[in-house]
Amino acid sequence: GIPVILDCDPGHDDAFNILLAAAHPAIDLLAITTVAGNQTLEKTTLNARRVCTVAGIEGVPIAAGRDRPLHGPVRVAASIHGESGLDGPGFKDPTVPLDPRDALTLIRDTLLAHPRPVTLVPTGPLTNIAALLLAYPDLAGRIERIVLMGGSTGRGNTTPAAEFNIHCDPEAADLVFSSGLPVTMLGLNASHQVLATEDVIARFDALGTPLAGICTQMLGFFADRYREVFGLPGAPLHDPLTVAHLIDPDLITLVPASVAIELTGTHTRGATVVDLHGVTGRAPNAEVATVVDADRFWDLIVDSVRVLGRD
Ligand code: BDR
Ligand code: CA
Repeated sequence: GIPVILDCDPGHDDAFNILLAAAHPAIDLLAITTVAGNQTLEKTTLNARRVCTVAGIEGVPIAAGRDRPLHGPVRVAASIHGESGLDGPGFKDPTVPLDPRDALTLIRDTLLAHPRPVTLVPTGPLTNIAALLLAYPDLAGRIERIVLMGGSTGRGNTTPAAEFNIHCDPEAADLVFSSGLPVTMLGLNASHQVLATEDVIARFDALGTPLAGICTQMLGFFADRYREVFGLPGAPLHDPLTVAHLIDPDLITLVPASVAIELTGTHTRGATVVDLHGVTGRAPNAEVATVVDADRFWDLIVDSVRVLGRD
């Protein structure tokens, strides 16, 4: 399978990305690292262990990374993900351990140990990834590509202009997008094509396993929040677009584009300025998602919960 490290802030949609990466034979999940984002680092790290415990994902090291952005204060998304960062189901205490290394050390060790370049999949603020590139520039050659959820070709969700992951740490995003590494950006314009509506949630419920029950409760909470906060008929399952793209490259249409991160805007800090029509003359530094095959996406997600929920 494709060797992958997930760097995440679970988070409801991050949780489903962990399930998909662990369940699918096309992916070789080498490690999970956590970052402050949807909730504090302590909570996102606990949540990663909870998700792995409930899904029976063992032997994948989990390490905690940065507890704040490169600059400025921490900002969490309690209005969407709740006080725990993963509100909805009741979780028992995790039995999956926390790796004693910090996230940067775990990523470094994993990159050095693997015979092939590894794909990094960040689905939270890009703090850990930027810190890694700053601390270990020589590791760039061990990174196959960076496939991230963040940004948008259009409007934001945290400010009118900025998407949450980029808005939380624009300097980190800027470092990643200007790193020269191949970057794939799955943004809000793509993730809003995969809404967990009542019909979708019913497919998880119908699986009937304990894991499926937890997934149904996670999606129910997430969808309620999106209904209330954004008036949407369901919750966009943003983060699993990343691993879904790796599993099935035809699922999501990508176009090369120049992406600039707004660092100084009065009202637009953290915006991804995506030059879809080449009007700036800047060379593309990313491939950017445009169209998603939503039916095939949900089939993948439902299947991952079915596979992991068997016993
Ligand atoms: C992103 O922000 C987080 O709340 C989600 O987990 C996702 O990564 C969407 O803007
Ligand atoms: Ca996330």
